[in-house]
Amino acid sequence: MSIPYISFINILKNAKSILENPLPFHKKNFKKYGDTFGAKLGFGNSILFTKDNGLVNHILKTNHRNYYKSPIQSKQLAKYIGNGLLTSNGEYWLKQRRLIQPAFYKKKLEGVKAIINTVIEKELADLPTNTKIDLRPIMSNLAFKVVGQSLFNYGEDEKAIARLQEITEQVQVAVIKEIRQTYKYWWFLINGHISETKKLASEARSILQSLIEKRQASSKNHDDLLDLLLHSKYDDGSHMTMDQLIDEILILFVAGHETTANALSFGIMLLSQNKTAQQQLFKEIETINFEKLSIMDSFKTCTYTKQCIDETMRLYPPAYFSDRIAIEDDVFNNNNYKKGSTFLISFYELHRNPNVWESPEIYNPNRFGDAITKEQLTNYFPFGAGPRMCVGSNFALYEMIVVFGKLLKQYAVTPEFETIHIKPLITLQPKNAWVSLKKRCL
Ligand code: HEM
Repeated sequence: MSIPYISFINILKNAKSILENPLPFHKKNFKKYGDTFGAKLGFGNSILFTKDNGLVNHILKTNHRNYYKSPIQSKQLAKYIGNGLLTSNGEYWLKQRRLIQPAFYKKKLEGVKAIINTVIEKELADLPTNTKIDLRPIMSNLAFKVVGQSLFNYGEDEKAIARLQEITEQVQVAVIKEIRQTYKYWWFLINGHISETKKLASEARSILQSLIEKRQASSKNHDDLLDLLLHSKYDDGSHMTMDQLIDEILILFVAGHETTANALSFGIMLLSQNKTAQQQLFKEIETINFEKLSIMDSFKTCTYTKQCIDETMRLYPPAYFSDRIAIEDDVFNNNNYKKGSTFLISFYELHRNPNVWESPEIYNPNRFGDAITKEQLTNYFPFGAGPRMCVGSNFALYEMIVVFGKLLKQYAVTPEFETIHIKPLITLQPKNAWVSLKKRCL
């Protein structure tokens, strides 16, 4: 079987709209060409777009050893945020994953539960009521502080962490511009775009270095993720070097902040539109004291809240695509994929497949209840799949349960928008996260 390709001329003709929002372009071409199609990108480069569930599971799970993160992550993103868990490949990735993953087990996260709850409580305390507010910056600050405090349990370093937030946000905007316009790479080199972004990235690295050095000089126990990372050892008993620590921490900031902020914003927008779901969630969390409940028990108790989160990320997966490159020739379903074939996997389209999800455009948290099917679960990728699945999924889910719980306990939420508009950057963001909050009488 041969895979249909879109010409480079066609890509150039649509460049402006692709830069703004590539999702309609993907949708149109999936409809026209089927579940997998290619696009020529100039200079002999091309990319394959897929929403073929069989192929996606083959790439991410069954034959994952043949598929590395493509240069989109391992080079374009890594040149700014370093060679860490998200951007590395092969043996090095495996070594880092084995070292870092234990810090994110539910039991270990109990250690930062109090930090997470305190930050959320503080960030939600004095939100403006009875007026239109934009959830995006509120959730972005909240999610950044949750990751920042869990990593550094900082007190007096608030300014440094705020600067890190500015930088990581600017770097993400710069990276998406490069990814969507790969054919302009030389121009970006000449016009200073790349060197300016590198300068920002090295400022972020210096900030992190001084925070880590300060910690290394301290004899106190801080009960945060940095303590865990500093004490974790490779099989030979050695620790991460300063450069490795900086790479991994920068990556945890980048991977853990925007994604969670977007899921929270979309989730609250959807609840504001769906009063029945909002009421049902409120009933579930009304009497819960998250500070007292273990992380494990929060998952067990807040089942409907979790369903609302699952349904939010089905409709609006913050990581709406991923990329892989074949490191050797491969065959799947009678199609030959040459070494070097690069794939863009559309989680967004997979989550809206009408053959798997009834009325896929409709928000219905109940579909994640007991009746969820195996087929649906294998078509659901909010945190990716296979060995490279999100290392922070427990952290993110717990954070989201607590934010939904604490927010809806205090406030009733009403929409200040007609329909949800999206802004697909490196992550999928809402464009118009406007709601108003009304204090509940407790
Ligand atoms: C709602 C929030 C989140 C979403 C939707 C999300 C989604 C994802 C997805 C889809 C992947 C796999 C990417 C791929 O296969 O190419 C991933 C990987 C990753 N995520 Fe998350 N993530 C979230 C929160 C977090 C948090 C809170 C952290 C850490 C604090 C984190 C750290 C990472 C890291 C380090 C990786 C790379 C794992 C590896 O390759 O071994 N994420 N995430």
